[in-house]
Amino acid sequence: MRRVLYALLLLLLLLALAALALAALNLRGEDKLPDAPAVFSATPAQVERGRYLALAGNCAGCHTARGGAPYAGGVGIDTPFGTVYASNLTPDQGAGIGRWSAAHFWRAMHNGRSKDGRLLYPAFPYPSFTRVTREDSDAIYAYLQTVPPAPAPNTPHKLRFPYDTQAALAVWRALFFSPGSFVPDPAKPAEWNRGAYLVDGLGHCIACHGTRNVLGATEEKLGLSGGPVENWYAPSLTSRREAGVADWDTRHVAGLLKNGTSPRGSVMGPMADVVYRSTQHLSDADLHAMAVFLKQLPEREPAAAATAVPTHRDDRVMARGAQIYDQRCAYCHGDAGQGAEGAYPPLAGSRAVRMDSTTNLVQMVRHGGFLPSTAGNPRPYGMPPFGHVLDDDGIAAVLTYIRGSWGNHAPPVTRRETARR
Ligand code: HEC
Ligand code: HEC
Ligand code: HEC
Repeated sequence: MRRVLYALLLLLLLLALAALALAALNLRGEDKLPDAPAVFSATPAQVERGRYLALAGNCAGCHTARGGAPYAGGVGIDTPFGTVYASNLTPDQGAGIGRWSAAHFWRAMHNGRSKDGRLLYPAFPYPSFTRVTREDSDAIYAYLQTVPPAPAPNTPHKLRFPYDTQAALAVWRALFFSPGSFVPDPAKPAEWNRGAYLVDGLGHCIACHGTRNVLGATEEKLGLSGGPVENWYAPSLTSRREAGVADWDTRHVAGLLKNGTSPRGSVMGPMADVVYRSTQHLSDADLHAMAVFLKQLPEREPAAAATAVPTHRDDRVMARGAQIYDQRCAYCHGDAGQGAEGAYPPLAGSRAVRMDSTTNLVQMVRHGGFLPSTAGNPRPYGMPPFGHVLDDDGIAAVLTYIRGSWGNHAPPVTRRETARR
């Protein structure tokens, strides 16, 4: 009896210690904050700077709902654990962040905690924003205090148990999050450092271009190595076969982020949104800095080796694919997949067409796509959706055809890859 009692006591003690350790880990690097906002007076220059930085961080991409008031929140972010809704960031006193001080705002950006102390879900990319400087955080705060207040209340998250608990989030954060700051590399030029600050911090490129583990954490070790986003695949920024730009001209990289298109490739799907809402608004100097940094990322090929995949193509599938292509695709992309300069991308030699992952190809053919409308490319050409005229086999056939023609030597696309998810 006594032994059982001791064992229980010991267990309780261990649990209490674990809870304390967890709490300590979650409060790392935080100052105690007074509840009443300290007086904060912003200069017009600071507000303008904040407006620009909010574009660099694409805050509106998640915090402004389609047709909703700017920054009033309500956009649902789908995660494997359920849906997390972005909050109201307007200065409304009740629903928004009108009663927040600049210090509360900084704690959210840097430590991932809300004004009331609630731990925040990393669907809010604070694991990247933690590198943003206090000065930049204050400027964004100053800007957000100037947008019209909107009374829209926050939408409750829809997460499955146990992911809906603060305890689960505390464990997650103890394992995968620690507040950080951007440390410039003195061996690199100022421009490279500026690019690193933007790509790894506000730009939160890793939120999509990072590999996630089963618990949804981006693997910092692997860096910008590619991963799934919604129904798309964000290719690896460290691989020339995927989205790496090591062998691109710096101007073309900056041009891709500014115009959505470049002589080496164009953006589609979620990346088109990133260009539309965020990167097209950045200064040429900042885009150049990001390009310099992206070009120098250490190269690493994704694990799946293309050589291991059989490239045998079924003649009947190829014939069916050719027929679909001639009827539905050739008038834009050309009889030999050569494209039309300034209008339709070439499919012959296209990296997007030959990539190991066929996810984005299936998305494009099924749902079509538009390049983002940008100052440099104001009326881009679009691609119509074919989901209503081609079934899964038809999509697999035309993709197998374009991956195996005109010098493209990529493996065929199977029915399994085109089956609707
Ligand atoms: C990828 C989507 C996404 C982007 C981009 C994003 N956020 Fe959020 N943000 C969220 C989500 C989702 C939440 C809610 C998290 C939660 O409640 O746990 C959130 C919460 C917040 C909060 C806490 C609000 C509160 O009431 O606790 C602040 C502050 C915030 N975001 C600021 C920003 C700023 C500033 C930017 C741009 C620099 C930004 N966010 C960009 C998704 C995003
Ligand atoms: C919301 C998710 C998301 C975010 C955030 C994101 N990307 Fe992407 N990115 C994608 C997807 C999906 C693709 C693949 C589609 C395509 O090629 O456009 C892509 C493609 C790319 C490509 C390859 C384009 C080509 O033509 O080969 C580059 C380069 C790139 N992204 C850079 C960036 C940079 C730099 C950032 C940060 C500023 C960033 N991405 C942030 C989702 C994202
Ligand atoms: C009306 C003209 C048009 C037709 C028809 C068309 N496309 Fe496209 N396609 C485009 C445009 C424009 C883009 C660039 C859109 C973007 O990047 O968002 C594109 C992009 C693509 C891409 C991505 C290429 C890359 O390198 O980024 C693929 C793959 C593709 N189309 C395949 C097809 C297939 C297969 C068909 C026939 C089933 C087809 N297209 C029919 C206009 C067309």
